[in-house]
Formats: sequence, structure tokens, C-alpha cells
Amino acid sequence: MANEEKFKQLEEHLAAAKLGGGQDRIEQQHKKNKWTARERLAALLDRDTFQEIDKFVYHTATDFGLDKKRFPGDGVVTGYGMMDGRQVFVFGQDFTVLGGSLGLAHANKICKIQDLALKNGCPVIGLLDSGGARIQEGVTSLAGYGNIFMRNVLASGVIPQISVIMGPCAGGAVYSPALTDYIFMVEKSSYMFITGPQVVKAVTHEDVTTEKLGGAATHTTMSGVAHFKGGSDNEVIQMVRELISFFPPNFREKPPRKEPTDDPARTDMELRNLIPESPKRVYNMNTLISSIVDNSHFVEVHKNYAKNIIVGFARLNGYPVGIVANQPNIAAGCLDINASAKGARFVRFCDCFNIPLITFCDVPGFLPGTQQEFGGIIKHGAKLIYAYCEATVPKITVITRKAYGGAYIVMSSKHLLGDINFAYPTAEIAVMGPEGAVGIVFRKEIQEAPDPAQKELEMIEEYRTKFANPYQAAMHGYVDEVILPEQTRPKLIRALKGLLNKKDRMPDKKHDNLPL
Ligand code: HXC
Repeated sequence: MANEEKFKQLEEHLAAAKLGGGQDRIEQQHKKNKWTARERLAALLDRDTFQEIDKFVYHTATDFGLDKKRFPGDGVVTGYGMMDGRQVFVFGQDFTVLGGSLGLAHANKICKIQDLALKNGCPVIGLLDSGGARIQEGVTSLAGYGNIFMRNVLASGVIPQISVIMGPCAGGAVYSPALTDYIFMVEKSSYMFITGPQVVKAVTHEDVTTEKLGGAATHTTMSGVAHFKGGSDNEVIQMVRELISFFPPNFREKPPRKEPTDDPARTDMELRNLIPESPKRVYNMNTLISSIVDNSHFVEVHKNYAKNIIVGFARLNGYPVGIVANQPNIAAGCLDINASAKGARFVRFCDCFNIPLITFCDVPGFLPGTQQEFGGIIKHGAKLIYAYCEATVPKITVITRKAYGGAYIVMSSKHLLGDINFAYPTAEIAVMGPEGAVGIVFRKEIQEAPDPAQKELEMIEEYRTKFANPYQAAMHGYVDEVILPEQTRPKLIRALKGLLNKKDRMPDKKHDNLPL
């Protein structure tokens, strides 16, 4: 064969590979408002930077007629490219080929990407759209999943891993995304569950739709399995691009600074009105966060799950930071099981990837009740304490109002090695709130007083004056500085500057034993 013919042959092979499962299947995919794997990857990466590899991989299975169903690439498009000029490795499952099902050759392609990403210290982003283990390939499909899980764990904490669910993701297949750092879902066209509605019906007699059981709304509000959802393939892909802009490529590097366009010395007098006069009244912690971060730009993670705690990414004078804040607007900002787990996972991610933590504290305590106790609030609350204790990134705290009891300690207190701890003059740092404390300590005096109600009010006021303020804590050095609310942004930026070269490490160990 002449060279020219060989070149032409390659072009023909490439054209066939581009078609995946064929034009009809591509049209079916589009009818479902879904892009093809290559369209998605093109949108995910900087223009014309996608370099595809393994286009000519085929499976070698023959059982159940698979020998007649062979497609170039075997149902997954893999390669590398740039995001905002930074290298990433990617794969996108191609539903047009055998429903994106995963056999050994398909899995090996994903593993190759994971290996390249890990060795080169670059993030890996997977776009999932698959009927799960390729049934006709039997145990080798399961081996393929096992090999992917193993690499997910090896890469955990070394490089950021992101999973984007853009179609079906069922059975054991859900565990690869679950082992990664962040899960995105596309509303209406994606779902995740261990067993589908039919199996659920057979086993538990429950009637449930696919959407209710494992749709984007369920996993971003009820289960907390997914962190973000968007209305279309494109919207979700743009959200991924935004999120990754906060991360370093791997744990050895610092997160990328963006040239700031917001004044680091900017103050906001409006913040004086944020904390209500009455400790019983609520306010929106998001107002404070928006006010103090660069250009009011805050990317909230798990926005609709465990809303009594807020976590997310922002920039301060161009430096990426992770923000953790109690939300007094929801359940008074109490820490419960879900909020503790949500906060802990976020703190651990930031610590993995050198992202400084800014914590805003207004927490009356852990949520009381049998539901919480039976559900194990003790072990789940311990996760958040653990995460803050082991975090060696710069930790800056602002106590805006309530910081009571164990919850005070948890929220990046000095005792968990907070580096710089600020408090507003409105801070109330004590073992418990005035009403509870007075009821316990002065119960006898109150009962014996001629006017018990009046006596109780007096004692509450005395307690509030004595303890419900930041000055007791400041006296012991547990608060480094009491600041006015309008100074929050410049104070945080100066503190962050001072801590940028912080070096600290946990004692050597095989690995820790985080309470699970
Ligand atoms: C082989 C599969 C497949 C699979 C889909 N296909 N899933 N082939 N193995 N797991 C094929 C179909 O036969 C069909 O091929 C093509 O993909 C498109 O599928 P349709 O069913 O026509 O599409 P749709 O109606 O959109 O339904 C999609 C679906 C459904 C909901 C995903 O295909 C489905 O329920 N598939 C099985 C899902 C499942 O139970 N997977 C195993 C999960 S357990 P043709 O050629 O006919 O068009 C698992 C274990 C992993 O994954 C364990 C890891 C530890």
C-alpha cells in the first residue's frame, strides 16, 4: 500500500471513530437534549485543545453477539487538554456506543487517563453517561470498575478528581464518582442509584420514579451525594470550569492566584447593621460572605444540602480561599449530622489542596433531639472536629455572634490550632447561652426569689454582660483581635498575607482513623 493510501486509510478510521455508535444514535442523544461525549469534551476544554488518545481501541469480547458489536473507542472518549490554560486529563463516556456500558477495554482507557493524570500531577475530570457494567463481558467488566476505584483512591488527595453525571449511572458504577472530590449532575437527564425503581419495587414495595430516586434534585438536596446541579450539559460544563479555577493541579502546588480587581482595603459600613440587636433574631450569613470576598463572587458547594452550614470557594485579594460558615437563617445555624459531614468533607478537601480556610462562626450548639442522637451526631460531629484539627492550611476565624459550647471549639477555634481568630464586639463566647446557663446555675436562687421571673431576667442580663461577649476569650488569647464588622475584608486579607507561607504538619503515621 502506498504511503498516500495509508494516510487516507487513517483519515477513514478517524472519521469512523468520530461517529461513535453512528449518526442515528447521535441524533437520539441530541433528541434527549444530551450532547455527545466529544461535544461535551470540546466545551469543557479550552478551544481546540482536546487531544484524543486510544481512538482505535476495540473490545475483544465475543460472547452474546458482542463480536458483531464492535465500535472504535469502545464507548469512551479519552484524552487531555487545557482548562484556562492549565493541563487536565479527561474522559467522556459515549452513550451512543452500547449505551456507554463499561467493558474491560473501556475501563482500561479510563485507567490509562487516571494513571497519566496522577503521574503528571494534573486534575482528572470524568463525564459519565453509561448503562453500567457491560453485561455480556461478565466479570471482566467488574474487574474494570475495580481497577478504576483503586485508581480513584490512589489519586485521592494527590490531584483533584471531578465526576460529572450526564446520563445513567447505576449499580456499583456510582462508586467511582463517590470516591472523587466533587459530583455534578445534569437536571432531568442524569440519575444515580444503587438499584433502580423496579428493584426497589420488588424488594421494598415502594413506588418511586427514576427522578425521585436518583435525580439531580434528590442528590443535591436530600442525600448530599452530589454537590452541584445545572440545567443542561453546557451549564454544568461551565460550572466545572469555574470550580476547577480555584484548585491547584495537585497537592504539592498552591492554588492559582487571579489578578484582583477588587480593593483589598475596601470596608463595608452596611455590615454594622447585619447582626440584629436581639440574639433571638436571625440574619443571612451569605450577606457577610458576599460583602467581604472579591467582587462578591462566591461559588457555593452543596448549596441546597444541609443549609445550616455554608461551604464554598471565593477569592480574597485574588487568593483562592475555602469558606465555612454557620447559617443563622436555617435551624439557627445549629450543627447537625448532615452539616457536620458536609463541613468536614469540605475542610478536608481544602486541606488536601492547600486552600486556606476562612470560618465564620455563629453557632448556638449541636442540634438536640433523639433523631440526632440515634443517628450518631456524636460520631458525625467528631468528623468536623477531626477535619479542623488535622487541617494544616492557614485557618482564619471570625466569630460574629454565638459561639457556644462544643460548637465554639469545632468552628476553627484557637484550640484546634486556628491561626488568627477574630471576633466582633457582638460575639457571645461561652459554655452555653444565657437562658440555659442561668436555668442550671441559679435555679435555686430563682425559685426562692419573691419574683422568680424577674430574678431570672436579672440573672440572664448579668450572665450576658459577664460572659456573652468576646472579651473573656480575648483575655486568654483565644481571640486574637476584636474587630468592627466593616473591617472584616481588610483584616482577613492582611491575616491571609501573613499566613501564606505557613508550614505545619501532622505527626508521621500510616494514616489517620477519622471517625466514620
Ligand atoms: C450492555 C447495555 C447496557 C449494559 C445498556 N446497554 N446498558 N449493554 N451492558 N449494562 C445497551 C442496550 O442494550 C442498548 O443496545 C443500548 O445500550 C442503549 O440502551 P437502551 O436500553 O436502548 O437505552 P435507554 O432506553 O435510554 O435505557 C438506558 C438504561 C438501560 C436505563 C441505562 O439500558 C438499562 O437499564 N441498562 C442496564 C442498566 C444496568 O442494570 N446496568 C448494570 C448495573 S450494575 P442496543 O444495541 O440494543 O441498542 C453495574 C455493576 C457495576 O453496573 C459493579 C461495579 C462494582
